[in-house]
Amino acid sequence: MGLFKKKKTVDIGAVPTHIAVIMDGNGRWAKKRGLPRSAGHAVGAETFRTVATYCKDIGVRYFTVYAFSTENWKRPQEEVDALMDLFRKYLREAADTMAERGVAVRVIGDLSVLPDDIMSLIHETGQIADGLGPDAATATLCINYGGRDEIKNAVRALAREVQAGTLQPEDITEAHIAGRLYTAHMPDPDLIIRPSGEIRVSNFLLWQSAYSEYYFTDTLWPDFKTSDMDAAIADYNRRQRRFGGV
Ligand code: FPP
Repeated sequence: MGLFKKKKTVDIGAVPTHIAVIMDGNGRWAKKRGLPRSAGHAVGAETFRTVATYCKDIGVRYFTVYAFSTENWKRPQEEVDALMDLFRKYLREAADTMAERGVAVRVIGDLSVLPDDIMSLIHETGQIADGLGPDAATATLCINYGGRDEIKNAVRALAREVQAGTLQPEDITEAHIAGRLYTAHMPDPDLIIRPSGEIRVSNFLLWQSAYSEYYFTDTLWPDFKTSDMDAAIADYNRRQRRFGGV
């Protein structure tokens, strides 16, 4: 169980440890078909299930997706409600199947303002994920997530430690900051994929993406296939990562 990795469809080279995705283009996908935006999100959630499973099967340890930003509350209430329903449905399903599938599902972001039942589901899935141990593949949903908001919260946490006298300002290192982000328990993303033709970062993993490779594609997220993931990984493997060296 878990010993044999599913064969990749093409030779895509080494598999990145951590892949992150900005799941963009759901609204346009729906509009092209004369459907409500929520239909695009529903198909986008299916795409997430398929691609997350594929990533686990080929040996990706961490798969992280931008599911709802701190700015997405500005969308029509109907669309926000539809997204919350998709999170509910997925988290319930994850709670039931996570142990059997061996994938730890986690949620990060400012979760304090989410509806109570979603908070409970996040707590429940978090506990099951903890029980899977440190070697399980991890799928992380970023909900009410914003990179600047995350850094602001880390700065506040450090300020409180300085105020309490447990930390001196001159002793603060990059590791102190990284350790107070929502992602403290995972490595930085190696590859960040943005579908739908938009070429911007949109407040996603700002600190963690310092040395990530970006991959942009015109494919809309609901149309994204495992072959698109293969293409992204193959492209990533053609890059030379130098981390500021030569
Ligand atoms: C951006 O596309 C997408 C979102 C704001 C939501 C992403 C959420 C999902 C795919 C559902 C996730 C659910 C689970 C269970 C993982 P957009 O709506 O801005 O697209 P547009 O730019 O074409 O309008």
